[in-house]
Amino acid sequence: MKRIAVILMVIGLVIAFAAMSMAQEKTEAPAKASHKFIGSAKCKICHNSPAKGEQFKKWTESKHAKAFEVLATPEAKEVGTKAGVDSPQTSEKCLVCHVTGFAAPAETKEATFAQTEGVGCEACHGAGSDYKDMKVMKSKEAAAAAGLVANPEKGCVGCHNEKSPTFKGFKFEEMWPKIAHMFPEAKTQ
Ligand code: HEC
Ligand code: HEC
Ligand code: HEC
Ligand code: HEC
Repeated sequence: MKRIAVILMVIGLVIAFAAMSMAQEKTEAPAKASHKFIGSAKCKICHNSPAKGEQFKKWTESKHAKAFEVLATPEAKEVGTKAGVDSPQTSEKCLVCHVTGFAAPAETKEATFAQTEGVGCEACHGAGSDYKDMKVMKSKEAAAAAGLVANPEKGCVGCHNEKSPTFKGFKFEEMWPKIAHMFPEAKTQ
C-alpha cells in the first residue's frame, strides 16, 4: 500500500510540474515565427497541370516573372538615372516592387527562394512554407490560417501606383486578364 501512495504522489507531482511548465510556456512563448518564402518553383509541382489551369506556366509567361531581369535592361538604366539610381538591380529603390518579399527579413527566405524570380506567387499569395503541404492546401480555412492570401486583388496597387517611375495608371479590370490564372471550372476566367 505504501508503495502505491508513493507512486501516486510521484504521478501527482509530475502532473503538477507539467501543468506549471505549460502555463509558463503559454505566457512566455515567443511570437509565432513568420511564414517563410519558398520560391515559385515549389508551387509548380501542384499548380501546373493544364486540367487545373497551368498557374505556373501562365506566371512564367507574365511580366511578373521578368520583373527582376527587366532591371538590367538599358531602359531600366535610363529610368534609374532619372531617379538617381546607378544600379537598379541592386537598389532598394527599385527592388522594393520588382522582387518578392523585398522588405521581409533575410531569415524568412528559405534556400529554395531567390529574388531573381521577380514578382513570384508569394508576392501576392503570401509566404508559402506553412501552407504548401497538400493537407493544408486542401482546406481553405487551414490554408488561410497558415498564411495563404487567396484573394490578393487589393494588393496590386501596393506596387502599381504613382511611386513607380514608369506608372501610367492601373485598372484592375484591364490588368487582371493579362495575368489571370483561375482554375478552369471557375467562372471568373
Ligand atoms: C502539394 C501540392 C501543392 C503545393 C506545393 C501548393 N499547392 Fe496551392 N493548392 C493545392 C490544392 C490541392 C489546392 C486546392 C484546390 C485544388 O483542388 O486544386 C490548392 C489551392 C491553392 C489556391 C486557391 C485557394 C483558394 O482558397 O481558392 C491558391 C491561391 C494556391 N493554392 C496557391 C499556392 C501557392 C502560391 C503555392 C506555392 C507557394 C502553392 N499553392 C503550393 C495544392 C498545392
Ligand atoms: C512602387 C513600385 C515600383 C518601384 C519603386 C519601381 N518600379 Fe519599376 N515598375 C513597377 C510596376 C508596377 C511596373 C509595371 C507597370 C508600370 O510601368 O507602372 C514597373 C515597370 C518597370 C519597367 C518596365 C517599363 C515598362 O513600361 O514596361 C522598368 C524598366 C522599371 N519598372 C524600372 C524601374 C527602376 C529602374 C526602378 C528604380 C529606380 C523602379 N522601376 C522602381 C513598380 C515599381
Ligand atoms: C510586388 C509588386 C507587384 C505586385 C503586388 C503586383 N505587380 Fe504587377 N507588376 C509589377 C512589376 C514590377 C511589373 C513590371 C515587370 C516588367 O515589366 O518586367 C508588373 C507588371 C504587370 C503587368 C504587365 C503590364 C504590361 O505592361 O503588360 C500586369 C498585367 C500586372 N503587373 C498586373 C498585376 C495585377 C493584376 C496585380 C494584382 C493581382 C499585380 N500586378 C500585382 C509589380 C507588381
Ligand atoms: C500579381 C499577383 C499574383 C501572382 C504573382 C500570382 N497570383 Fe495567383 N492569384 C492572384 C489573384 C488576384 C487571384 C484571383 C483570386 C480570386 O479572384 O479568387 C489568384 C488566384 C490563384 C489561384 C486560384 C484559382 C481559382 O480559380 O480559384 C491559384 C491556385 C493561384 N492563384 C496560384 C498561383 C501560383 C501557383 C502562382 C505562381 C506560379 C500565382 N498564383 C501567382 C494573384 C497572383
